[in-house]
Amino acid sequence: MRCAIFASGGGSNFQALIDKKTSGRLRADFVLMIGNNSKAKAFDRARENNIPALHIAPSHFDTEELYADKLGAALKEVDTQLIILAGYMKKLPSSIITQYRNRIVNIHPALLPAFGGKGMYGMNVHKAVLEYGAKLSGITVHFVDEEYDQGPVIMQKSVPVLDGDDPQALADRVLAAEHENYWQAIEAIAQGKIRVDGRRVIWTASNV
Ligand code: GAR
Repeated sequence: MRCAIFASGGGSNFQALIDKKTSGRLRADFVLMIGNNSKAKAFDRARENNIPALHIAPSHFDTEELYADKLGAALKEVDTQLIILAGYMKKLPSSIITQYRNRIVNIHPALLPAFGGKGMYGMNVHKAVLEYGAKLSGITVHFVDEEYDQGPVIMQKSVPVLDGDDPQALADRVLAAEHENYWQAIEAIAQGKIRVDGRRVIWTASNV
């Protein structure tokens, strides 16, 4: 399966996916990385692993249509079958979402639908979980639709919120769960083991 990765920051999820591929557990090809921030460490990871990378940011374009055209052409050029958002903090244009319906996956650092939506990304999520006093947080892997964090859920895993947690401690625990699990959802998609029925995602043969 030919995958394009979108990343905005450190790219530790991107690295975890590369490592799973290298170990032979994840049977997917990373044919392109796209980032909106040229200083993102994710670009270094792409370079170190000989994955072609493009810096494409919405701010480079006068209209969303031009932005979407550029993204669409880049994705088509490498014959993308799956788009993987790995710490990507920008909304994709709706025409790309339509074109890649149920072929865009995202990982969110909480148990959706709690602590999701506009503005709920990265450390904001962990701060909100702690402020609320939730005892559980976790990860959600989902398909991407037009609304922030609302597409069909593929996988969720919980992690405990501990009494002594600050946002960074909780983020680290959640990130470890992301690294452990994201590749399994992608591998299942690559192996044709995932079926979408309305909002419900069915694992036809599952190891989770
Ligand atoms: C991850 O925790 C990911 O779930 C989150 O940003 C972090 C990126 O880490 N994504 C979002 O909040 C998207 N809404 P990474 O760059 O080290 O993979």
